[in-house]
Amino acid sequence: MTRIIVLASGKGGVGKTTLTINLAAALTWLGEDTLIIDANLTTPNIALQLGMPTPNKTLHSVLRGESDIKEVVYFHPPSGLKVIPAGLSLKDLKSHYAKKLEKVILDLIGAVDNIIIDSPAGLTDITRRAIEAGDELLVLTIPEMPALTDALKTVEIAKEAGTKIIGVVVNRVKNVKEELHPRDIEQFLEVPVFGVIPEDKNMQKALRKNVPLLLSYPHSDASIAIKKIAAKLVGKEYDIIESPVGVRRRLRKFLRKVLRRK
Ligand SMILES: Nc1ncnc2c1ncn2[C@@H]1O[C@H](COP(=O)(O)OP(=O)(O)O)[C@@H](O)[C@H]1O
Ligand SMILES: [Mg+2]
Repeated sequence: MTRIIVLASGKGGVGKTTLTINLAAALTWLGEDTLIIDANLTTPNIALQLGMPTPNKTLHSVLRGESDIKEVVYFHPPSGLKVIPAGLSLKDLKSHYAKKLEKVILDLIGAVDNIIIDSPAGLTDITRRAIEAGDELLVLTIPEMPALTDALKTVEIAKEAGTKIIGVVVNRVKNVKEELHPRDIEQFLEVPVFGVIPEDKNMQKALRKNVPLLLSYPHSDASIAIKKIAAKLVGKEYDIIESPVGVRRRLRKFLRKVLRRK
């Protein structure tokens, strides 16, 4: 059965597009056939972040009734990801296209294991439609109050839409002791924290290279956090201790700490 998971946050710039790409990469790494849909219909970013030219036929062609959704599934060889990009042309800038989103996605049921939907910033009609199109929602936030209030509105929309809320992912965590604690976030949203992703400077480097962090820096802190989230989503245990690279990293970190103390 195909799972349709939508990522939404309300607030822009908290990492939805980045997490969509890397979560899909992590699920693919776990052997799950995974497809990304760029439901950011007015300012799409997925193809841009992947350094992929936007093709003529996109999600918009499907929403306009000009193409079948299976015709606009593109394979992106450098990342191994399957992507449905959205169109960039001005004629695509009509939000009423979003009405058909849920319906056209239904045609993909059974074609892949997972569909991850990237949604736009703001709590517009398109965001609402994207949340309705998903069966499950991961709410993304950063540990700051303005983002959290937008996350709460996103939770409310999901409740109205009947989309199951998997949990909240707290991104760009720098110092748990000085920021809003995941426990406080859980209490405020009344939604369990599903994962925590640290601030990772390799994220910017990966973006500059147009290669997902999971592939360009697979052992970086955020990559490991995202792999843990993916594993949890499919009910697997990701344990860094099992990986020899992880053991080496831990050992290096530990030795650095000990040597610094001397
Ligand atoms: N864990 C992280 N550590 C550092 N930078 C991050 C992290 N997550 C996202 N970013 C950066 O934040 C910026 C916004 O991310 P993006 O995915 O475009 O957000 P959104 O889709 O929510 O608007 C990008 O420059 C991205 O590289
Ligand atoms: Mg985005």
